[in-house]
Amino acid sequence: MPEIHIVVLAAGKGTRMKSAVPKVLHQVCGLPMIEHVLRSGDALGPASTTVVVGHGADLVRDKLATRPSVSVVVQEPQLGTGHALLQAEQPLAGRRGTLVVLSGDAPLLRPGTLERLVDTHTAKGAAATVLTASVADPTGYGRIVRQDGAIVSIVEHRDASAEIRRIGEINSSIYAFDLEPLFAALRSIGSENAQGEYYLPDLVRLYRKRGLGVETVVLDDPSEILGVNSRSELAVVSAHLRDRKNEELMAAGVTIVDPAGTWIEPDVSVGPDSVLHPGVYLQGRTTIGARCELQSSVRIVDSVLGDDVFVNSFCVIVESRVRSAARIGPFAHLRPQSDVGEGARVGNFVELKKTVLGRGSKANHLAYLGDATIGEKVNIGAGTITCNYDGVSKNPTIIEDGAFIGSDSQLVAPVRIGQGAYVAAGSSITRDVPAGALGIARGTQVNKEGWVERRKSRKT
Ligand code: UD1
Ligand code: CA
Repeated sequence: MPEIHIVVLAAGKGTRMKSAVPKVLHQVCGLPMIEHVLRSGDALGPASTTVVVGHGADLVRDKLATRPSVSVVVQEPQLGTGHALLQAEQPLAGRRGTLVVLSGDAPLLRPGTLERLVDTHTAKGAAATVLTASVADPTGYGRIVRQDGAIVSIVEHRDASAEIRRIGEINSSIYAFDLEPLFAALRSIGSENAQGEYYLPDLVRLYRKRGLGVETVVLDDPSEILGVNSRSELAVVSAHLRDRKNEELMAAGVTIVDPAGTWIEPDVSVGPDSVLHPGVYLQGRTTIGARCELQSSVRIVDSVLGDDVFVNSFCVIVESRVRSAARIGPFAHLRPQSDVGEGARVGNFVELKKTVLGRGSKANHLAYLGDATIGEKVNIGAGTITCNYDGVSKNPTIIEDGAFIGSDSQLVAPVRIGQGAYVAAGSSITRDVPAGALGIARGTQVNKEGWVERRKSRKT
């Protein structure tokens, strides 16, 4: 197999997005559009990847910093797709093999399709191979003109006659090229067309004239080349990727009650026999175990859930861990670095931040637990608050195994509640409570007998 190189064309402005953000950085299912494109290219195991940027070059370059092996070249001004590819000549100098050209705004391309493109290109020994698709409405696209079945040219919609506009086979703007004749040929492309631009597709006519082999690969699923030029197309493409992910999970044994209303980002995994109710939103690098149930309107970001976890409606879980058989919600908020132990319970209106809640422990109602390390089988009463912030720094609270925190208590950190200790309801605990002790820190109740009657008589 010849060496494979990739160039992604991403210098275009994306005028119709009406955005200060470069088009290829807009998110599709949680990843910038260009990241989807680069991932489909990664599957080919390329020897090099180059991205051609232009509009918002610095922003795109910053985003690509997470991929240090990617070369970035700037096209300025933007004189068309042929001119864009020419900018990649320098990073590819001295390289041989196959160059695959991708569009930064077409994030639905499947890796398998690229493999098929390269396989055909290599098997036929072509100088160029064009990925094409037959579509119901080819308006706006470049049309594939064939003679005796073989491709002879690509004509842009704006330059096309009425007859050519009737052709339903279109150019995807995804190609494989033999590197050897490519850049010299690109330099001889003219710009005599409706847009006065250097068109990359013009290489087809040029190659055929020179007797170089040009092949095509026709897409089975034309939706793969859907590009994003507007917010409306952004939504269409996002929905395609959502459907793909949901189909994949359902095929692997996950129940998704309402696939159209369930968004699961590409890097999320969900175990078999888990059930996802409408409005579930799973983001980032989230992992959900087997037999979990996520009720409606649950959002989970970069978190790990064990098996048999139940999350009731309207919970938000971020950068946290929930161990097997735990129950969360409804209306619970797990903020970063929280760790809910096996079989533990976090009930309604409970917020955890950087808090470990041990195995079998319960915080069933209305609590704030921040910077706390809570042991096993602890009971946190309704209204418990860890006062972890003194206005300057965050302080830890430690609650040992089997402790019982009575309702409406404040634990003023730093503070430790010993093993099996009790805190009386309504306490403001400012000092450690030793193991096995009862801590009471509240005003002593006074009952004034007959007070009501006495008040009445005063009034008369
Ligand atoms: C292009 C093709 C057309 C094809 C269609 C498929 C040309 C002339 N036409 O048209 O045959 O049917 O894609 O979607 O190639 N870009 C640059 N620099 C430039 C111009 C464009 O980097 O100077 C990049 C864009 O950012 C984009 C890609 O090239 O990622 C395609 O450009 P675009 O302007 O969207 O081309 P289309 O008019 O859609
Ligand atoms: Ca386009």
